Amino acid sequence: MEIPSIIIAIDGYSSTGKSSFAKLIAKEFGFTYLDSGALYRAVTLFAQENGLISGDNVISPALEKALEGLELHFDSSNRTFIGDRCVETEIRSMPVSSQVSPISALAYVRRFVDDILHRCAASRRVVMDGRDIGVTVFPDAEVKIFMTADPIVRARRRFDEMALKGQNPVMEEVLENLRRRDEIDSHREVSPLARAADSYLLDNSEMTIGEEVAWLKGIIQGKFGILE
Ligand code: DC
Repeated sequence: MEIPSIIIAIDGYSSTGKSSFAKLIAKEFGFTYLDSGALYRAVTLFAQENGLISGDNVISPALEKALEGLELHFDSSNRTFIGDRCVETEIRSMPVSSQVSPISALAYVRRFVDDILHRCAASRRVVMDGRDIGVTVFPDAEVKIFMTADPIVRARRRFDEMALKGQNPVMEEVLENLRRRDEIDSHREVSPLARAADSYLLDNSEMTIGEEVAWLKGIIQGKFGILE
């Protein structure tokens, strides 16, 4: 059965595996995957490279003006571009990760990113992940998922990822950092992380990614019939 252009919005806490899940869903159902966090990261890189952020201080009127000339897009492999330059590696670096929070808290930056997401999603089947997709960006998304997991389980996943990269993590620090990010994400003034009232809750503390996909398949099939 052919389904119309629908949007699957996946929000949730950090280190719940949102992007791995969203990418797998996109592949499974033939949807386009949109990574909203990558756009906040690209704006942060742009601000850094143009001297528009120092520590947590954003040079606000200048950044807002500069965004008028900033062109961001994804290629068919989901890589993020600033103009014709691929910035996929740079936006995942520590300097960007450590400054993306104050950038993503700015209302004009959120409007800028939301415009791009809306343009990308027009007349397409899209799965996107973030913090505020189901509540703010696409409140009419046909399927909304809110992901969570036990903080200890999330910290363990983050710890394993960092260890794999040879970063010598300390479990107590990883857990503390995760709790702090939960707190900031949930309590910032503009578009905080929030669960949409009409979202399905996915607690994957004790689930494999295969079980998560099977769970969502059940929901999609129940709503739209068999997907081909
Ligand atoms: O998911 P991520 O780690 O790549 O996100 C990067 C940052 O952007 C993170 O600090 C949360 C923020 N973000 C947001 O505020 N709203 C979104 N829809 C997606 C990400």
